[in-house]
Amino acid sequence: SEDIQTLILTTLDSQGTIENTESLKGPDGNTIPYLAVVGVLNSLASKEMVSYTTIEKDLFVLTAEGNEIADTGSHEAKVFNAVDAQNGISISDLAKLLGASAKIGQGKAFKNKWIKKDGDKLVREVQTIVDQTQLDALEVRKTGTHSNASTLKDLQSRKHVEKQKLISYKVVKGPKFALTVTKEATDLTTDMLADGSWKTQSFKKYNFAGNPPEGGHLHPLMKVREEFRKIFFELGFEEMPTNKFVESSFWNFDALFQPQQHPARDAHDTFFLLDPATSDKFTDMDYVNRVKEVHSHGGYGSTGYGYDWKIEEAQKLLLRTHTTSVSSNMLYRLAQETKARGGEFRPAKFFSIDRVYRNETVDATHLAEFHQVEGVIADKNLTLGDLIGFMKVFFEKMGVPDIKFKPAFNPYTEPSMEIFSWHPGLEKWVELGNSGMFRPEMLEAMGLDPDVRVIAWGLGLERPTMIKYGLDNIRELLGHKVDLDMIQSNSACRLDKKMGKEKVGKDA
Ligand code: PHE
Repeated sequence: SEDIQTLILTTLDSQGTIENTESLKGPDGNTIPYLAVVGVLNSLASKEMVSYTTIEKDLFVLTAEGNEIADTGSHEAKVFNAVDAQNGISISDLAKLLGASAKIGQGKAFKNKWIKKDGDKLVREVQTIVDQTQLDALEVRKTGTHSNASTLKDLQSRKHVEKQKLISYKVVKGPKFALTVTKEATDLTTDMLADGSWKTQSFKKYNFAGNPPEGGHLHPLMKVREEFRKIFFELGFEEMPTNKFVESSFWNFDALFQPQQHPARDAHDTFFLLDPATSDKFTDMDYVNRVKEVHSHGGYGSTGYGYDWKIEEAQKLLLRTHTTSVSSNMLYRLAQETKARGGEFRPAKFFSIDRVYRNETVDATHLAEFHQVEGVIADKNLTLGDLIGFMKVFFEKMGVPDIKFKPAFNPYTEPSMEIFSWHPGLEKWVELGNSGMFRPEMLEAMGLDPDVRVIAWGLGLERPTMIKYGLDNIRELLGHKVDLDMIQSNSACRLDKKMGKEKVGKDA
């Protein structure tokens, strides 16, 4: 290809333009194959040394049968030559002599009135013939076409000739034309920057030709999650590390003052691990003992549950049933940090959005795994009023201006409130989330001061996503029935976020 490159460049240098690369002949005198030419032209064109246009021409070439005719004559001529000028030939001898050609050639030879039947013999009708079929084949071989269009068609339909595309190029000089090719750099290096050679270095152009591959697409849940994350970040929250899907019962239940006989701790509601079934990674035995104490006998103003708390139960591993397992761990750490600072408490705002698992019967609205959005605010002397006020701000930012609260029960919060929002489509109040103030039995056992109050809330990610994207079966959102087209083509999520206290919606 170096030789071809030199040939192209020197020809351009002397002639200015190459009208057709067909005229370029290699050292052997033959035309250079177009694939070799186009390789060189592409590389020169990418360096702007030349530019070129494609010339497409039909080329007619002989098939194997066509070549045989050109070399040895047509079938009909072979038949004629086989017929003895004096004695003719019997049909069976002809078949023996010529094989397949005998049958193919006879018809044409009859039609041309070269031979005729005489009893069971074939005899000549003329003494000399002109084998026009062979002449036609030779013309095609020589010129790549035939001067008579209908003959050409006929040769094609008899499969003596086939059409090919002949590709060649017209080449002109490009703005950076030169007789020698300078090597182009593919990368800008620190050395080039340091020694200034980048100023004169020529760089290889990026090749953006072709169709870029289809990129990844965010799942609707991830789009809505991103919007929720933004709300939390706007409000100054810190994201909790939720990459622990397997958790001990301790952080999922016990640390949250959820008694060991609680129905949620049953295998019907929770996925427990079989192998390994337990964790013994408890290092702060003082804390574990305080948890045991408050469950068994109470403390911090509470009478406790009055049962025999067992560490074996707390060690059981499970798939976390809520992200509050992460929150309990984070609040414990907050207590540790406070202690490390000599008791100086710093308020904290945490959030998380991730998967949780429950041993539920799967139906149109329930899956065994789903996502929870959870927020936690820890500060001194927070009140239920703070929780209610903050929920209004939070849900208004989500585009949900009308919320109502209903007293509820959670083992770890007191008081607890379910949060309802007005659903304009369904024309009714639907449950959106759950909230409350973490109990002193939980917080004080961790070592937090009695005046540190923690308000928290949780909601599912799936329901708002289904409402946003108009899905009414959760199995269209997650699992093997998900339509990948739906994932690819769904719009970006823009929650109708409201700033400040402006009131919109049903009551506005
Ligand atoms: N953990 C609760 C649930 O799974 C949600 C919640 C979080 C409630 C924090 C109160 C406080 O539904």
